Amino acid sequence: MRKIIVAITGASGIIYGIKLVEELLKTSNKIYLILTDNAKTVAKYEDVYERLVELTNKVKTYSEHDIDSTIASSSFNHDAMVIVPCSMKTLAGIASGYAENLVLRVAENTLRLKKPLVLVIRETPLSTIQILNMLKVSMAGAIVLPATPAFYSRPKSVNDIVSFVVGKILDVLGIQHELYKKWVTY
Ligand SMILES: Cc1cc2nc3c(=O)[nH]c(=O)nc-3n(C[C@H](O)[C@H](O)[C@H](O)COP(=O)(O)O)c2cc1C
Repeated sequence: MRKIIVAITGASGIIYGIKLVEELLKTSNKIYLILTDNAKTVAKYEDVYERLVELTNKVKTYSEHDIDSTIASSSFNHDAMVIVPCSMKTLAGIASGYAENLVLRVAENTLRLKKPLVLVIRETPLSTIQILNMLKVSMAGAIVLPATPAFYSRPKSVNDIVSFVVGKILDVLGIQHELYKKWVTY
């Protein structure tokens, strides 16, 4: 049983975060969710707000303002953190060590403890500053996992596209799944 913290921030692709938590809840791991205010705003635009609220009834959920919560301390000793989707603002906060909300604080702790930190970034095109921020967090030990679906798996639906990206996150966490067919050549 691992303690995994998932944060959903205000980048496009809130559905990736929702789907990841739904999948993690099927495992024996303990899951903790952090939502930023902007994640809730974007969820409304992306028509997944109700599904997000439903999710918060199934998993221990924190707001970005819960800076005094148990998970804010490195003594909570979580095993991994995934930020999905990860906005460029949150990426910048992590890259510069500016821990002004709970997402940034837990991310900072994850790097301090040298535990897996997966950032599912979503933006296009990218500025040089954003690319440098990715380099910085990567050098600090984070795994930058852009939300870039592949099409060789011949997705038939949005759900297939989402499943591919979420499957890639589960791969990094070492969690078995059947969300997409692994590439096999004979
Ligand atoms: C509909 C909508 C879509 C957005 N999509 C993105 C995105 O894909 N990537 C990104 O970095 N920011 C995106 N933003 C901007 C972020 O929400 C904004 O930078 C915000 O400050 C992020 O805050 P947070 O990281 O604390 O959630 C979007 C905003 C809105 C309203």
